[in-house]
Amino acid sequence: MTQDAMEKWTLETVSMLRHWSPTMLSFRTSRSPGFRFKPGHYARLALPGPDGELIWRPYSLVSASHDDYLEFLAIQVPGGAFSAALALLQPGDVLRVDKSSFGFLTVDQLAPGKDLWLLASGTGLGPMLSILREPAVWQDFKRLVVVHSVRHVNELAYRNDIASLQDDPVLAEGGAQLRYLPIVTREPGATALAQRIPLLLQDGRLECAAGCALTVQDSRLMICGNPDMTAELRQLLAGLGFSTTRCGVRGQMAFEKYW
Ligand SMILES: Cc1cc2nc3c(=O)[nH]c(=O)nc-3n(C[C@H](O)[C@H](O)[C@H](O)COP(=O)(O)OP(=O)(O)OC[C@H]3O[C@@H](n4cnc5c(N)ncnc54)[C@H](O)[C@@H]3O)c2cc1C
Ligand SMILES: NC(=O)c1ccc[n+]([C@@H]2O[C@H](COP(=O)([O-])OP(=O)(O)OC[C@H]3O[C@@H](n4cnc5c(N)ncnc54)[C@H](OP(=O)(O)O)[C@@H]3O)[C@@H](O)[C@H]2O)c1
Repeated sequence: MTQDAMEKWTLETVSMLRHWSPTMLSFRTSRSPGFRFKPGHYARLALPGPDGELIWRPYSLVSASHDDYLEFLAIQVPGGAFSAALALLQPGDVLRVDKSSFGFLTVDQLAPGKDLWLLASGTGLGPMLSILREPAVWQDFKRLVVVHSVRHVNELAYRNDIASLQDDPVLAEGGAQLRYLPIVTREPGATALAQRIPLLLQDGRLECAAGCALTVQDSRLMICGNPDMTAELRQLLAGLGFSTTRCGVRGQMAFEKYW
């Protein structure tokens, strides 16, 4: 396989794979020096299928915009075409990465605010990590609230990394306070919060656990993952007066749905 400078993609080499659970893994690749992205963006990746055809799928970037590698958090869906190819991936293998990055789940899509709420289900945590690794976010907000809902406790990917972000001197210098709220929905007792995010938001338990109120004036929300969850939260938050960015007017909430 050769890399053609005229192509819209580059070939990158897999350097690391980490399995969080039988169906969730992270992988790292080399990064072309020309590849640029904003935290919250996604890349388009391709792996060959069983007949050699290319299977392209979007994947959010987990790594920081300044890292010299790219990192992704992926689900392996039973029967999924990309998932089947991903199951065969080994360090040293190559995959294609589109030269452009995409998406609107970026902090600059939002009006300035005081508290940034990052609400994710499953692999929707990925872009939140890239955002949290950006020093400017720690300067621009007073509080960063990360909420991650998963079925099982071993899917709380990057749990320790999130907890130790505040110990990073470059990030800590920004002054924001980080609150991490993990939610495991199918193993009673695994986490203090165990219900779905929309319910916890509706009955006030999420605000209580975060130690701050959700207000249109101060709160900004980024929401990523299960499309039913994003739809429910969009409706709920719109009812509270939150809006998405429209016609150049920046709003208070932004969404990315994964399927
Ligand atoms: C903008 C965007 C960014 C994305 N970023 C990521 C990412 O960072 N990590 C990631 O794992 N996936 C991400 N996805 C989904 C990803 O592109 C693939 O669809 C997914 O990894 C499965 O690919 P597949 O070919 O195996 O199955 P597909 O045929 O693509 O999907 C089959 C079914 O699997 C389920 N499914 C798909 N993606 C997910 C998921 N992430 N979590 C739970 N169930 C899912 C849905 O029921 C879907 O109908 C993203 C999708 C979009 C639109
Ligand atoms: N996770 C696994 O162990 C597993 C195993 C085999 C296959 N899969 C496949 O992987 C995919 C699902 O992956 P996933 O577990 O990462 O994603 P998921 O089903 O979206 O679940 C992730 C989290 O989102 C919650 N959630 C689901 N629907 C919601 C909604 N409408 N509103 C609010 N929260 C909601 C779930 O809560 P609930 O628990 O209440 O649903 C869970 O806490 C499916 O295609 C499934 O077939 C997953």
